[in-house]
Amino acid sequence: MTTETPLELDNFFAFMQDPYPVYTYLREHEPVRWNSMFYSFMLSRFDDVHMVFSDQRRFSSDIWSQIPERMSPDGDNESSMYLRQIVPFLAYNLQGMDPPNHTRQRTLMMKTFTPRMIESFRPTVQKLVNELLDAKQDAGAMDIVSDLAYPLPSNVILELLGIPREGRPYIKASADAINEFVTTLLFLGPQVWPRLAGIFAEVKAYLKSLIAEKRKHPTDDLLTKMVHAEENGDILSEDEIVIATNFLLFAGHETTANLIAVGLYYLLQHHDQLELLRTDPTKMPGAVEELLRYVSPVHTLARHAVQDVELHGVTIPAGSSIYLLIGAANRDPAKFANPEMLDINRPPTRTLSFGYGIHYCLGAALARLESQVTFDTLLKRLPHLRMTIETPTFRPNYSLRGLTSLPVAF
Ligand code: HEM
Repeated sequence: MTTETPLELDNFFAFMQDPYPVYTYLREHEPVRWNSMFYSFMLSRFDDVHMVFSDQRRFSSDIWSQIPERMSPDGDNESSMYLRQIVPFLAYNLQGMDPPNHTRQRTLMMKTFTPRMIESFRPTVQKLVNELLDAKQDAGAMDIVSDLAYPLPSNVILELLGIPREGRPYIKASADAINEFVTTLLFLGPQVWPRLAGIFAEVKAYLKSLIAEKRKHPTDDLLTKMVHAEENGDILSEDEIVIATNFLLFAGHETTANLIAVGLYYLLQHHDQLELLRTDPTKMPGAVEELLRYVSPVHTLARHAVQDVELHGVTIPAGSSIYLLIGAANRDPAKFANPEMLDINRPPTRTLSFGYGIHYCLGAALARLESQVTFDTLLKRLPHLRMTIETPTFRPNYSLRGLTSLPVAF
């Protein structure tokens, strides 16, 4: 880096097109940096990010439950009412909770999200990929983002959950609302809250009626399994199922879309790697692991310090927000040889793409399955696939780094 003014280093919205020079600077010179734009400490080294993921006693995931009190301390104005309708969707999903509540809900959710159930879904994923490609085959061109990477993961999760066609817009709108709330909270605030609260009220009413229906007429899907999940007499409440349903779409949608679209972009840029994969499809699982590292579909996650923590000579005071720069950690040369190189033959090494520890991604097997099936099908069905623009544009989203579009011809 030649210039290092605070704004250039701290404005993560501004450099998502290519965040890697900033990541390198931070890892080398300021592994614990106070970011005055995000009011957070930024951690960029693999070992530090891994350490925080592993230590839920000192680093809490409960970053949302106190937001209404913090942002609206008097608690009786209109904004505060909206905030109280929105925040539970973030604070009481698995990712936003600490033990013991997290342990209890995760144990029940794991009963529904079994590896066997995911693997049995492979033919459905293949069918959904084929349908999206069939729709574009004759045109000879498509936008990988809007025609494949975005619709696929949401179709897969909605199918898996057993949400009927007429209910899908409610769940999609509320998963988008979670995303919008997370990314605008610090910068936009109250003007968007009434609209978001309205979306959550609608999805809640819809899902409660669907849950009642699944209780009466059980079907072979994830929502029915959640309704019936039980551990030592404990069950998921109706509110918990509503929140979990929305969160599964939020957690599994843009993340998987980014892996597919950005992953394909990097493969098309690295012809040698693409050819290796084309000639030997058994390399696909290893290639997807390397793409997970190279892409880091989730670039940033937050925690908050429960107590004062000393790291590399910097004191992180109790109560501080901490951003874990997964995208930087996954390219740390202290952990990965030639980290800036895409190498589908890289020996298996743990990455932090799905997190680590008690919050390790519940949908990792599903994300791997979807991306393996998609890349495999693209290589087989579209042997002449090529990009039709020079450089695609990344969205200015510092947490879920993805493309606005990826036009291709075949
Ligand atoms: C490439 C795709 C994906 C990536 C990169 C990804 C990444 C992550 C990461 C980094 C975490 C850890 C969060 C934390 O520690 O705060 C996480 C948690 C989670 N993910 Fe994923 N995810 C992906 C796909 C999915 C899918 C497809 C689903 C489900 C349909 C899913 C459901 C979840 C859930 C429920 C959690 C919370 C687990 C917990 O807190 O116990 N994810 N994911």
